[in-house]
Amino acid sequence: MTFKEQILQGIPSNLPKHKSYPKDANRAPKRKDILSIEEKQLAIRNALRYFPNKWHKELSIEFAHELQDFGRIYMYRFKPDYDIYPRPIQEYPAKSHQAASIMLMIQNNLDPKVAQHPEELITYGGNGAVFQNWAQYLLTMQYLANMTNEQTLNMYSGHPMGLFPSHKDAPRVVVTNGMVIPNYSNPDDWEKFNAIGVSQYGQMTAGSFMYIGPQGIVHGTTITVMNAFRKILKKGETPAGKIFLTAGLGGMSGAQPKAGNIAGCITIAAEVNPKAATKRYEQGWVDILIDSMDELITRVKIAQKNNEVVSIAYIGNIVDIWERFDKEDIFVHVGSDQTSLHIPWTGGYYPVDTSYEESNILIAEQPELFKEKVQASLRRHAASINNHTTKGTYFFDYGNAFLLEASRAGADIMAKNNIDFKYKSYVQDILGPMCFDYGFGPFRWVCTSGKTEDLDKTDMIAMHVLQEIMENSPEEIQLQMQDNITWIKNAKKNKMVVGSQARILYADAEGRIKIANAFNKAIAAGKIGPVVLGRDHHDVSGTDSPYRETSNIYDGSKFTADMAIQNVIGDSFRGATWVSIHNGGGVGWGEVINGGFGMFLDGSQEAESRLKNMLFYDVNNGIARRSWARNDEAIFAIKRQMERTPNLKVTIPNIVEDDILKSLF
Ligand SMILES: NC(=O)c1ccc[n+]([C@@H]2O[C@H](COP(=O)([O-])OP(=O)(O)OC[C@H]3O[C@@H](n4cnc5c(N)ncnc54)[C@H](O)[C@@H]3O)[C@@H](O)[C@H]2O)c1
Repeated sequence: MTFKEQILQGIPSNLPKHKSYPKDANRAPKRKDILSIEEKQLAIRNALRYFPNKWHKELSIEFAHELQDFGRIYMYRFKPDYDIYPRPIQEYPAKSHQAASIMLMIQNNLDPKVAQHPEELITYGGNGAVFQNWAQYLLTMQYLANMTNEQTLNMYSGHPMGLFPSHKDAPRVVVTNGMVIPNYSNPDDWEKFNAIGVSQYGQMTAGSFMYIGPQGIVHGTTITVMNAFRKILKKGETPAGKIFLTAGLGGMSGAQPKAGNIAGCITIAAEVNPKAATKRYEQGWVDILIDSMDELITRVKIAQKNNEVVSIAYIGNIVDIWERFDKEDIFVHVGSDQTSLHIPWTGGYYPVDTSYEESNILIAEQPELFKEKVQASLRRHAASINNHTTKGTYFFDYGNAFLLEASRAGADIMAKNNIDFKYKSYVQDILGPMCFDYGFGPFRWVCTSGKTEDLDKTDMIAMHVLQEIMENSPEEIQLQMQDNITWIKNAKKNKMVVGSQARILYADAEGRIKIANAFNKAIAAGKIGPVVLGRDHHDVSGTDSPYRETSNIYDGSKFTADMAIQNVIGDSFRGATWVSIHNGGGVGWGEVINGGFGMFLDGSQEAESRLKNMLFYDVNNGIARRSWARNDEAIFAIKRQMERTPNLKVTIPNIVEDDILKSLF
């Protein structure tokens, strides 16, 4: 059977043979055995509803084994035999080009080159699922192949509920992932619902088919490091020869040295796991690998003297570097940390003065002792950072719960009011006020022809558009414009494309609309093939997350999720090709509501009007909310937008004098 025939058949009419998992596969962790006997029966009853009765006996035994062995029913037997990768758009069987573009993006998210645990349909983050099982995948691809532009597919946490009649301007797919009644949103609820087969964790871009590999994280980290330096450098100074000290060379944290090189500083990243450090070195993500502290000191001094741009991985504990640099009086300009402190007791953070191997034994055999060591290490870690910041180092929390866990460990990390931390997070201090409040966020696109030439052409188009906009940009956003022009100029050189021909940059509403419109015109002129637009959920409007995306909201509304919900509804009737809304993502189940979209550009007039209408709202909804929260930068941005858009009328806050409030209580 050809690829097209297999897609069209959906769930095969003959029961496929039992499959064994490939030996070398990177398997998802075994999940908690959390279901009662009755709930296990329910999970199997639920799984079997995808299949004809004549297969139930055989499949029930197999699914019971999967539940026992993995804690989930993945239905691995139904994984198709064809290779999964983003084939060019014309290779999908489809009645709707929009639907074909969604098929391409699903294939990308499950491509073994891209996905973390492809066998378990997980794209990234250990649990970021595209589907819960292979039956859902087969049915969804079949629905997409058959749908017309007068139908919409509803997807409930990976399950394709069905095609409903709609109209050509409606989204082709509406995705919800992990949406539960708020009181049932603790982590064990997720374990249970997911094991029963009724809910899934879609992370951010996994369950919304918009993941583009490590490029997104490198770009975001670059923007963060560049702007961190900007906060402390004098006019005319560059980051060259100045130190960015951090920890972690793992999944996301491994982007730090590459981002540091692009930002143009000396990056020193400590990593206790030699395998993780060596992997990043061999991949070319870090320039130098050093395992001796004395050697590190010598090399860093040379780099400082020569104003170098270089990245160094130190195999060892971050606390040792902070303390030794303090002794040697090596000035750290920017400091942060990306150890996995969201999971401090199970290997997310390794304590100083205990070897990596010894720690791993303690985690398994003496977890209480390990916990004490982690807490003692965090107290030392914070104390040493405090010594540096007294000398002028700028330290920020990288959304990894460093300050939170250090405070729980009793470290000297609280501000004078004993409510806030001494240091701010990267969103509070950098991305929020310098990017999101002005509307700058992670706009991305994918060339559906799969051709590198198309991506090169779109890079050039985007660069020219940004250069043109920058000529008339106000002072406040000139730097953001310049950063992204520099990024896009070098994007190809940085070789970040994995899977689909994708690109990311930060742009505001004007930039996103003008770039998209220029793409649409190039498609109409036959210069490039169709393009899919999208964005990360870590953005201006799509995500309500009180400790990350909306951590710089100070009017008490950061625990509300109206913005994310308004956003997904608003995008859906303004022209998105698909929309998604998720519980969880990034910071964990129950901790965030985040949404995204995809938009197919085919060069048509309709595509032009959709992109103008939807991209405008997708950014300005969040700016309006940030402005109402009294964020100065957002007030500036939304007022400027209203001047340019007579139809836009946003409620602007009046700012009360502090003295009036002080006199009250
Ligand atoms: N990069 C971003 O934009 C971003 C944004 C938000 C949050 N985060 C957070 O950053 C953290 C890291 O993410 P990840 O995917 O890289 O996790 P990861 O677990 O893959 O990597 C963390 C690394 O830190 C190392 N490590 C732990 N303790 C150490 C110590 N004391 N000294 C030196 N190295 C140590 C570990 O060996 C591991 O390799 C997470 O908590 C994540 O939520 C990152």
